[in-house]
Amino acid sequence: MTKLSKAASIRHFEQARRYIPGGIQSNYRKDASYLPTYISHGRNARLFDIDGNEYIDYSLSYGPSILGHSSEALQTAIVAQAKEMYSNELNVLELEAAKKIVQHVPCAELVRFACSGTEANFNALRVARAYTGRNMVVRFNGHYNGSLDSLIGGVVSDPGNPVPGDGEREDDLFSVMGNTRGRAAHAFHDSYMIEWNDLSALEALLAKYGASIAAVYMEPVMVNMHGCMPEPGYLEGVRQLCDDYGVVLIFDEVITGFRIGLGGAQAHFGVTPDLSTFAKALGGGFPVSAFCGKREIMDAITRTDVIAAGTYNGHPLAMAAVIATIKELERDNGAVYAKMYRLGNQLAEGLRELFACHEPRFILQGFPTCWTMAWSESGRIRNQSDALGDGLLDVLAFSKLLNQHGIMVQTRFCLSAAHVPADIEETLQRAEAALKEFVAGR
Ligand SMILES: Cc1ncc(COP(=O)(O)O)c(C=O)c1O
Repeated sequence: MTKLSKAASIRHFEQARRYIPGGIQSNYRKDASYLPTYISHGRNARLFDIDGNEYIDYSLSYGPSILGHSSEALQTAIVAQAKEMYSNELNVLELEAAKKIVQHVPCAELVRFACSGTEANFNALRVARAYTGRNMVVRFNGHYNGSLDSLIGGVVSDPGNPVPGDGEREDDLFSVMGNTRGRAAHAFHDSYMIEWNDLSALEALLAKYGASIAAVYMEPVMVNMHGCMPEPGYLEGVRQLCDDYGVVLIFDEVITGFRIGLGGAQAHFGVTPDLSTFAKALGGGFPVSAFCGKREIMDAITRTDVIAAGTYNGHPLAMAAVIATIKELERDNGAVYAKMYRLGNQLAEGLRELFACHEPRFILQGFPTCWTMAWSESGRIRNQSDALGDGLLDVLAFSKLLNQHGIMVQTRFCLSAAHVPADIEETLQRAEAALKEFVAGR
């Protein structure tokens, strides 16, 4: 396959930059050569751009489109609801959607909806602080929990008192990507940032500061950077430490939720947090999120001790999307997960063979419905400290080449219910061409 022509996307981008900062709606520190691909429509696991190019899609809109891009069930539910009511009034769908989450997610006894993962995380943090009467939060280097001032980026200069500060370390691309000007001056003062997958680091921190810590906040799989899976016993150890110190354990399942399985990472690994947040796959592509957890903790909202507000929370179109998406995922006892896992494993096997043959420093980590590409000399990355250096730049460059060869990824390969074996075969052919070009260009 020859590289794709993007003339219309380039022209559109030039126009868009005149009216929209950066020409796009969600930005990280982009390199100067960044070119967005403007999509006109999607069918099943394929996307089509305004130049008429076709992509096999593993980005899935950064994760949400778990049913693919033209799910009849989702379209029917949305259209039917739009005909009844498309503005947000208190509606009966909220209860049905909440019940679905309670049915599948181990920690979920009470559920509230919001519109984005960032909002859900903001709310969960507030609830944890209210419940414990404490202030500090433990977060992890390399974990992305949305763009809140207090949760994004940061660098630690004193490991003995790991309160992050503004700035970036050149060899730590997470800090570079999360560094923003305009952050509130004291935003970081209420958090500690340590390495993930290192139980002794958390143990030492809690021993020193446990009495002031409200929450430990983590992605249960470090999906956003390098796709690190939890080390055996790590999540269990964290759970125990949180119990010992009376700290609320929060799993940010914005990506893992309804993607690793119906019950999220907490059901997959058998470790139940106190609170948890969901977005992305939850709504199959609709802007909706949820935060949920143990009744005793979430009751801070019931008592109105805690404000959790939002004009669009529980929006009927979003609720219809949640219900339709979960019903599709539940079908035949969750058979679609078996299919996605099978295809995801085939994809990983093929990609790993290609990497071994052409560039063994590319690795894939994660789980079959969400593989993350990473760069490693040793073949394995456990946490951000294992990934210092500029390897991620190679992953980003290769992702860009994949896009040029008709494969839509960021650094992740997410599977959907709409992927079929022919998609995987074609992906491997396109990926080989991209990989050869990557190697030739170094
Ligand atoms: C793990 C995780 N948490 C939170 C967020 C933020 O979600 P949103 O972009 O919907 O605000 C993201 C987004 O990518 C995420 O991956």
